[in-house]
Amino acid sequence: MDSMTFVLFGATGDLAKRKIFPALYNLFLDGNMPTSFSVIGLGRREMSHDEFQARVEDSLVTFSRRQTDDQSKMEGFLKAFRYNALDVNNPDDYKKLLQTIQQREEELTIPENRMFYLSVAPEFFDKIAYQIKESGIATTKGWKRLIIEKPFGHDLKSAQQLNRNLSVAFEENEIYRIDHYLGKPMVQNLEALEFANPVLQALWNNQYIANVQITASETVGVEERAGYYDQSGAIRDMFQNHMLQMLMMTAMHLPKKISPDDIRKQKKMVMESLRPLQKQEVAKDIVRAQYDQGEVSGEAVVGYQEEPGVKAGSMNDTFIAARLWIDNDFWNGVPFYIRTGKRMTEKSTRIVIEFKNPIKDLYSSNNDETAPNLLMIEINPNAGVTLQLNSRNLLNNGKLEPINVDFSASQDDMPEAYELLIMDAISGDATFFAHWDEVEMAWKLVQPILEAFEGNIVPLHRYPSGSMGPEASDQLLKENGFNWW
Ligand code: BG6
Repeated sequence: MDSMTFVLFGATGDLAKRKIFPALYNLFLDGNMPTSFSVIGLGRREMSHDEFQARVEDSLVTFSRRQTDDQSKMEGFLKAFRYNALDVNNPDDYKKLLQTIQQREEELTIPENRMFYLSVAPEFFDKIAYQIKESGIATTKGWKRLIIEKPFGHDLKSAQQLNRNLSVAFEENEIYRIDHYLGKPMVQNLEALEFANPVLQALWNNQYIANVQITASETVGVEERAGYYDQSGAIRDMFQNHMLQMLMMTAMHLPKKISPDDIRKQKKMVMESLRPLQKQEVAKDIVRAQYDQGEVSGEAVVGYQEEPGVKAGSMNDTFIAARLWIDNDFWNGVPFYIRTGKRMTEKSTRIVIEFKNPIKDLYSSNNDETAPNLLMIEINPNAGVTLQLNSRNLLNNGKLEPINVDFSASQDDMPEAYELLIMDAISGDATFFAHWDEVEMAWKLVQPILEAFEGNIVPLHRYPSGSMGPEASDQLLKENGFNWW
């Protein structure tokens, strides 16, 4: 792994404290950081290097997955950290930043490899990228990389504009767009499940699969984020990115080689084959809804309209269900159902593959029934794989009953999404980052939905908090003879 400088914009923010510092520290403890590295934190307020290091230490003690009694490890880590105050609009501050970077590169004999992590509000992304270029910080003899996290735009046009602005300073292969779902160990494991198992590989197509269901349900409501969420809704917050990324990871086909480029090519092919939605017909395949009051995990909660910060009469979607079709040889005729929402029954992200059941009636003369075979992939908060098969229960008069063959991965010591992703970015592996093509195609798919919502030609259903969404979402599957698992 190359020695490098990690330049963190937004170093006094919440994400830095909860996720980024702990991720770097855990990589360091696991021997997964370069031998030599420098971290330069940037924020608006003035702060000494010592104060900054104390803040970082505080965050590690509170949020790090791994802790150690060996104080010398902590010290060894913290001594890499420096702090600069920076006003994102002030060119002089970038000049000072360049001096700090160069000074540390000399002190530590680090080549000019520079990673820029923008942990700031998205409206600053292009400003910062522009100043990084203008100030000469981006002119390096080594590599330079940019890490950013969604939202990448608010709709297709703004996403394209943002991308044009970023590309003034960074090439596509230098931009690492985080979708933290791609950092979840079980999402990363999808590729191995699909490709490293000839048994599943053979079945991964429309000859054997009846439908695919991807669910990400949450119990939390809008929390303190109404300012953002009321403008975004589930469609932008979860569907355009996390849900479509999981769909790509599930529906992609065996590449010739397992390499970042080949995997991303396969994902892109999925997006290219997704059947576009027509604005006027969105309501046929998309259900939007908003939560009412109800009870979640035994606690009474208010409806979305009563949440602090939500505009009166807001038509924002807190739940989305979709039926999508992939028009290619592998998936013709197989519906992909996606649903995600806040204030639902449980916190659970999972993918269920329902296999066709051509022998459904084979046992009916014995008053027996076969349930469909299901492959259930639990992503979050549990991680595991379950295969549902039919088997005779000799304790119940030998009746056919579904049994589960289970594998559950222990989450205890699993690295966090940010650890895996930052490690990949440092080593230059872009497999689990969103390529611009994917992001753009996802916006293209979503754009008519946004327009149909704005034009109010899709009904806004309601669902009680603590439920699995509105009846209309069940109806979407019933139309094809299925139900949610
Ligand atoms: C974020 C969304 O990207 O993902 C949040 O902005 C959502 O609204 C979160 O709660 C869910 O992530 P996870 O990892 O808890 O499933």
